Amino acid sequence: MMLKKILTALFLLSWITLPAQSHGDHAKIHIASSNIYQDYSSSRSARLNEPVKPIPTRVELDPAKVELGRRLFEEKRLSQDGSMACRNCHLPEKGGADGKRFSPSIDGGHRDRNTPSIFNVGLMTLYGWLGMPNTLETLTEAIIKSKKGLASSWDIIIPRLVKEPEYLNSFNAIYSDGVQPNNVKDAMAVYQRSLITPNSRFDHYLRGDQNAISQEERKGYDLFKEYGCTSCHQGVALGGNMVAPFNLFKNYLDKRKGAQKLDLGRFKKTKDESDKYVFLVPSLRNVALTAPYFHDGSTDELDDAVDIMGRYMLGRVIHADDRKLIVKFLHTLTGEYQGKPL
Ligand code: HEC
Ligand code: HEC
Repeated sequence: MMLKKILTALFLLSWITLPAQSHGDHAKIHIASSNIYQDYSSSRSARLNEPVKPIPTRVELDPAKVELGRRLFEEKRLSQDGSMACRNCHLPEKGGADGKRFSPSIDGGHRDRNTPSIFNVGLMTLYGWLGMPNTLETLTEAIIKSKKGLASSWDIIIPRLVKEPEYLNSFNAIYSDGVQPNNVKDAMAVYQRSLITPNSRFDHYLRGDQNAISQEERKGYDLFKEYGCTSCHQGVALGGNMVAPFNLFKNYLDKRKGAQKLDLGRFKKTKDESDKYVFLVPSLRNVALTAPYFHDGSTDELDDAVDIMGRYMLGRVIHADDRKLIVKFLHTLTGEYQGKPL
């Protein structure tokens, strides 16, 4: 018990006292999966004990891999019929999603769940609406091969890339074994890890800039904590690291208009009864830009989303005035990509 207390104290101290030093030796933010994201929290007034942490301002990645990964992410020749790229559904200029309730899929139909943002996926540990643990490398391969993804295969992709001198040269310059499935996955995963959106007004506030958010926005954040939103939406991404059942207090699926088809959530993968209606707690970073909301894209309004969260996740009716303030807080989570506001 004593030892545990000491260890906890040491851990907390390491958070607070690690100095921000020269390049490559910064205090690392505590992210389970990775240490490539560098952070500094040197300001005396920084709020280090909040359930929400700022997005690191820098990420240490090989720029040549990021650039190759970007081209592959935008490359329609990865798909079987040459019609679809990852970018079709995940557009950086649309908050990393596509603004549609369901994205059109390569088979002429549509995806059966709303497309989540591609931003900040490197800060998450669970992926997709079913919240399965995965690496971005494995997930990327699965999407490339999936019928509702790019419906493709390495036998199709590798010869196509080898034929293009620009790809051939880039791969050869970066990887000793040239164009290989593992290297395609690697470059694409590295690009995805580069898609972070730091410097939101809320992050400036966490780092100690008292005036980065307004009085009302701060009140909204207090309410966000008081209502218990942070029991699920916490950490750097305000989500992406746990799952929760979407009918905790009432059966959401009975009530939502347009949600006639029951999505059993995680149960579909695990066949475990306790996983029925269990979904990923999504990241709330840039959430003001990523309507429609929820796995079924059933609302365009943040106010409505907050109302539903109150009723179904917390068993409470959140007063309209409080919802308004919480929505104001959610707007402060919009960050920058490549130095420009999203
Ligand atoms: C036709 C639209 C479409 C295309 C093309 C597409 N995605 Fe997605 N993506 C989705 C949807 C829909 C989901 C959620 C799927 C689910 O959970 O059921 C998703 C989920 C993801 C996630 C998990 C994000 C999160 O917040 O959980 C990542 C990462 C991702 N896609 C990367 C990619 C990559 C890489 C490619 C290209 C190889 C790609 N996507 C192509 C629609 C698309
Ligand atoms: C018990 C865990 C839990 C709590 C508490 C919780 N949420 Fe959620 N939140 C979720 C889950 C799970 C989803 C995804 C539901 C789905 O679509 O299947 C979600 C989705 C959302 C979305 C939609 C995001 C998107 O991109 O689609 C918003 C906005 C949101 N929550 C805000 C809040 C707010 C505000 C509160 C507090 C009033 C809150 N949540 C409390 C688990 C929780």
